[in-house]
Amino acid sequence: MPKESLTITDNRTGKQYELPVSNGAIRAMDLRQIKSGPDDFGLLAYDPGFFNTAACNSKITYIDGDKGILEYRGYPIEQLAERSTFLEVAWLLINGELPNKKQLDAWVTDVTMHTMVHENIKKFLEGFRYDAHPMGILAGTVSALSTFYPDAADIFNSRSREIQICRLIAKMPTLSAMSYRHSVGMPYALPDNQLSYTENFLNMLWKVTEVTYKPNPILAKALDMLFILHADHEQNCSTTAMRCVGSSQVDPFSAVAAAAVALHGPLHGGANEAVLKMLAQIGSKENVPAFIKEVKSGKDLLMGFGHRVYKNYDPRATIIKRMAEQVFDVTGRNPLLDIALELERIALQDDYFVSRKLYPNVDFYSGLIYQAMGFPPSMFTVLFAIPRTAGWVAQWLELLEDKEQKIARPRQIYLGPKRRDYVPAERRA
Ligand code: CMC
Repeated sequence: MPKESLTITDNRTGKQYELPVSNGAIRAMDLRQIKSGPDDFGLLAYDPGFFNTAACNSKITYIDGDKGILEYRGYPIEQLAERSTFLEVAWLLINGELPNKKQLDAWVTDVTMHTMVHENIKKFLEGFRYDAHPMGILAGTVSALSTFYPDAADIFNSRSREIQICRLIAKMPTLSAMSYRHSVGMPYALPDNQLSYTENFLNMLWKVTEVTYKPNPILAKALDMLFILHADHEQNCSTTAMRCVGSSQVDPFSAVAAAAVALHGPLHGGANEAVLKMLAQIGSKENVPAFIKEVKSGKDLLMGFGHRVYKNYDPRATIIKRMAEQVFDVTGRNPLLDIALELERIALQDDYFVSRKLYPNVDFYSGLIYQAMGFPPSMFTVLFAIPRTAGWVAQWLELLEDKEQKIARPRQIYLGPKRRDYVPAERRA
């Protein structure tokens, strides 16, 4: 039986150390004993971008990036996308198991009953400029919710956590719709409790003067499926922000605001907005080879391609690509689709992309669907943030219940100047 340990020889001192290996990892703190002398702090692991550092144990989401596998709590994403609903998946992520019928009904009712926001949120929204980015508005208003619910600071009270989680899942669509309507100068639409989660979101976005808004069931179902696909993705940038900020024991509204801000970046959730800009800039299929050449020369990135974890087709992209046809049957075909298909075709034959294992990720096709549904690109990241809130809060709960977790505080390798004395301005060279 091989030993579950690692033997390290420090060639600076000739000393040997045996470090236990558990679940395929050594503990970084075990490196601290490896010192070259009495003044040595101990060996650190240097890992910018956390390429090879596990910061937690988790039982929520499993990804095999080489095989293109994604599972929530063990359930394959393909099965959940086809057979579940977003609210059921949110429950699964948060509680660890699929709900029974009674639990599901109660959860759906609870979320439906918490969709309203305090009237003062409207006044708060008035302060944003007419052209404010909806993600900025969303992050600002979700953070402001912590001031409306001071009980949210009681994070070690499990009942309080349940209430805040329900509020977050319920109110994110409301805040998102309000941020959109603010940016187009439309009055805010009230939630409609007769509708499903995504139907109600469409109602709050698009309702004009009709007494009851009737969402298109195919579009509502497609959005629900997109929400399932975006609900969690283990330790990505925004989830890491959620865990880092949450580790300071701040309330969950503030931590979700931090995660939302991290999601906004073009290398993360902002990528689908960037994909649409890229496709519009390319303009036609004929211009694709020239654009690919630019990418290969390092002048541009092929947005919506590549992933830190997936070194194969992103399974979410496969599902979204298939779904696109159903949506386009209702909305009409997005003319940018042909450019996207041509980009994918050429890239997947090109050694630059093949050798680097760069495949379409979740953002490559999602923007095309959102645009065909009538969303402006500035709303795309908002559409990511709503379902990802389920993942963020599930990861936050796991963090709080993990006895090993401490406030996040990485080390650094200081390479700056050695101690030196202050010189008054007139005597400086
Ligand atoms: N276009 C062209 N070259 C790329 C791309 C791309 N989209 N992505 C990676 N590369 C190249 C990169 O230049 C590097 O080449 P070299 O080895 O010659 O220096 C190599 O591939 C490895 O890339 P990396 O930047 O070291 O990989 P990473 O794991 O740090 O980056 C990524 C992952 C997603 C940030 C990156 O692939 C990227 O910038 N993609 C475009 C933005 C995007 O689509 N983001 C959405 C990610 S999925 C949704 C989400 O998680 O939010």
